[in-house]
Amino acid sequence: MTPPTGPRLTLPEGFLLGASTSAHQVEGNNVGSDWWAVENRPGTFVAERSGDAADSFHRWPEDMDLLRELGFNAYRFSVEWARIEPERGHVSRAAVAHYRAMVLGALERGLTPVVTLHHFTSPQWFSARGGWASPEAAGLFAAYASVAAEILSAGVRHVATINEPNMIALMHTMIRRLNSGEQTGSGAAAFDPSTVEPDAEVTQSLIRAHRAAYEVLKAADPGLRVGWTVANQVYRAEPGAAEVAEAHAHPREDVFLEAAREDDWIGVQAYTRHRIGPDGPLPVEPGAETTLTGWEYYPEALGLAIRHTAAVVGPHVPVLVTENGIATGDDERRVAYTTEALASLASALRDGIDVRGYLHWSALDNYEWGSYRPTFGLIAVDPRTFARTPKPSARWLGALARAGEIPDGAPAAVPAGVRSAG
Ligand code: BGC
Repeated sequence: MTPPTGPRLTLPEGFLLGASTSAHQVEGNNVGSDWWAVENRPGTFVAERSGDAADSFHRWPEDMDLLRELGFNAYRFSVEWARIEPERGHVSRAAVAHYRAMVLGALERGLTPVVTLHHFTSPQWFSARGGWASPEAAGLFAAYASVAAEILSAGVRHVATINEPNMIALMHTMIRRLNSGEQTGSGAAAFDPSTVEPDAEVTQSLIRAHRAAYEVLKAADPGLRVGWTVANQVYRAEPGAAEVAEAHAHPREDVFLEAAREDDWIGVQAYTRHRIGPDGPLPVEPGAETTLTGWEYYPEALGLAIRHTAAVVGPHVPVLVTENGIATGDDERRVAYTTEALASLASALRDGIDVRGYLHWSALDNYEWGSYRPTFGLIAVDPRTFARTPKPSARWLGALARAGEIPDGAPAAVPAGVRSAG
């Protein structure tokens, strides 16, 4: 592969350039979690089980060694509530020790750990009590956060309470429909977020849980930088659809950004854009390039998501890109996509937006919530031997991290129809 050449932007001092994973997607055998239960029950709508995943529960030192050798300076991973508190109020000291060792392991290697407390999976006991729909949810999550503070005290600065609460609120509606038989289907087809309304009660419960965890974490260590991460949908209003797009976007994204106005940072997670017409969401335009998840190939989504997030949350809250990437079997497309995405980030930086890092999704090929087919990884994983093989994209992005530079492009104009603020 010939690495792309072109203008580069020198990154600000301390900029984090690394990669992300989540526990359920890479650890394997997360048997106490609600996702594991759903994957393994008879007649499940989930096409493929997570099983051993990438066995990162045991192989995390190798993952971190690789990231460091490749040139990265940061690693985002999540700690698993179902392992830390396998039964309500029962804390596994071994799990706490395990994740403390991961934090220390990252720091020893010169990787800044960015730690997520909740990345889609909850303990089975939590879901059995109603999960995020339960009035107890915020208190239970805050109690877990106070245990997690012991892990973070090993040297974490950046902690995300909840990953993509906006997707969780949608998933609640989808799971309720599947359970009631209102909706059928399996795999990705069962999860088309454009066709459902986010659960409004769950939305409020997630915001309460985030705020409660924020307080607990800051009380444990006022130096912690606490935030959460939002799935940025980059809604693009077609002509005549501005109001429809606003109405669609607010409960699905902006309400969660508004809730981050008092936070220490905000996580941007962007992959593609979503067009909204006068009658609502539109499918990907015929002939447009799509990725293995069926999403439109649209790398500029990253810069637009950063701009929209900064406009809604406010300039006083720094942005961390906690996820951006592409599901593809063609690694040259990954480099092309990431080059353009980073150029759109460079343009936002040049415009004065306070972006503090870029964490690519994903470090490893992993379990994509029902299937191993969409490969997002910079590093390939053999499903039988678990051997890790960095792809050329990993070497390319790692070299940029080592040089402290990213691709730069012409200043991006914001295309017509893209909302800049909430
Ligand atoms: C999630 C990841 C997921 C990725 C790609 C994000 O919504 O946080 O867990 O793998 O997108 O679908």
